[in-house]
Amino acid sequence: MAIVLGIESTAHTFGIGVVRDGKILSNCKDSFSTADGEGGMIPTEVAKHHAEVGAKVYAEALEKAGIKEEQIEVIAFSQGPGLAPCLLEGMKFVKELSKKLKKPVVGVNHCVAHLEIGRITGAKDPVMLYASGANTQIIAYESGKYRVFGETLDLGVGNFIDSFARYAGLGFPGGPKIQKLAEKSSKYIELPYSVKGMDIALSGIQTKLRQLYDSEEYCLEDLAFSLQETVFAMLVETAERALAHTGKKELLLGGGVACNSRLQEMCRKMCEERIEKTKLFVPELPLLVDNASMIASLGEIMFKANANVFSWEKLDELDIKPRQRTDDVLVNWK
Ligand code: ATP
Ligand code: FE2
Repeated sequence: MAIVLGIESTAHTFGIGVVRDGKILSNCKDSFSTADGEGGMIPTEVAKHHAEVGAKVYAEALEKAGIKEEQIEVIAFSQGPGLAPCLLEGMKFVKELSKKLKKPVVGVNHCVAHLEIGRITGAKDPVMLYASGANTQIIAYESGKYRVFGETLDLGVGNFIDSFARYAGLGFPGGPKIQKLAEKSSKYIELPYSVKGMDIALSGIQTKLRQLYDSEEYCLEDLAFSLQETVFAMLVETAERALAHTGKKELLLGGGVACNSRLQEMCRKMCEERIEKTKLFVPELPLLVDNASMIASLGEIMFKANANVFSWEKLDELDIKPRQRTDDVLVNWK
C-alpha cells in the first residue's frame, strides 16, 4: 500500500496527481494557454506560470484525493524529456517537498508514462501511436525496452498543428480549434504526403499550407480539413506498418493529438479492416493530454521495482533530463 504523488511540468501543463495501489485518487492541473491572435509558448514564461500555480494545484490535488500531505509516501516527477525551464520548476517543487516530508523521489520518463497509463484501458502489449505536441512516435515493448519503431523526422504533430494555427491567428493550443474548423468542411485540397517507412515528415506540408493560406484562395475550414485528412492518414499508415512488423494485435493511442475524434475514427477503421483482428484502446481525454496521474501511476510501479529512486538525503544526485529518449529508459519493472 503506497500513496504516490506525481508531478508533471514538461511543457504547458503543471499537474499534480495522487495514486494509491494503481487507483487514481486525483488528477489536477493548470495549463498555460494564450488567447486568439496571441503568440505561442515561450519556455521561460511557461516556467513562470508553473511557479505561480504550484501551491494551488498541490492543495487541490490533496483535497480531491482526500489525503493529508503526511500520508504521501513517494514523490514521482517528470524528469524528461521536455522544456528545461519548465522541468527545472517541477524539480524545484519536488526537491523542496521531498526534504520537507523526508520521502523518496522517483524520476519518470514522460513518454513512457503516456504509454504505461494505457494499461488502465486493458491494453496488454500494444503498439502505441503517441501523438502529442513535441513528440510523434510509434512505440512498442520489445526485449527490455520500449522501442521507437517510427517517428517524425522533423516536427511533432501537435506542434505542427499549433504552428499552422498560430500562423492563421488562432491562438494556442491550435489542435482543438483546427478540429472544429475541419468538421465544417469536406473539401480536400491536395497536400504533400510524406511517409518514409515507419517515419513521417511534416515541414513540407507546413510550407505548403502556409502558401495556400497566404494565397487567400482557400478558406481556413478546407485547409484544416485537408491538414487533418493528410497528416492523420500518414499516422495511421505508419501505425499499421508497425502492427504488421511486430505482429502485435493492439493499438493504443496517447498524447494530446489523440483527443482528435477524426484521428480516433481513422484508427478504428484501420483496426477493423485488418485481417489480423486488432483492438483499439483509447484512454479517456484527461489521461491522453499531459497529466500528473500518469506520472504518479508509473512512479508507483517504478518505486516497487526500485527503478530510478532517489532518497531525500541524496537529492544532489537528481537532475532533469530534457532530451531523454524513450529507448534510453531501462525498463526493469515488467
Ligand atoms: P509531449 O508529450 O510531447 O511533451 P505536450 O506536452 O505538448 O506533449 P499533450 O498534452 O500530450 O502535450 O499534447 C498537446 C498537443 O495536443 C497540442 O499540440 C494540442 O494542439 C494538441 N491537441 C489537443 N487537442 C487536440 C485535438 N482535438 N486535435 C488535435 N490536436 C489536439
Ligand atoms: Fe505529453
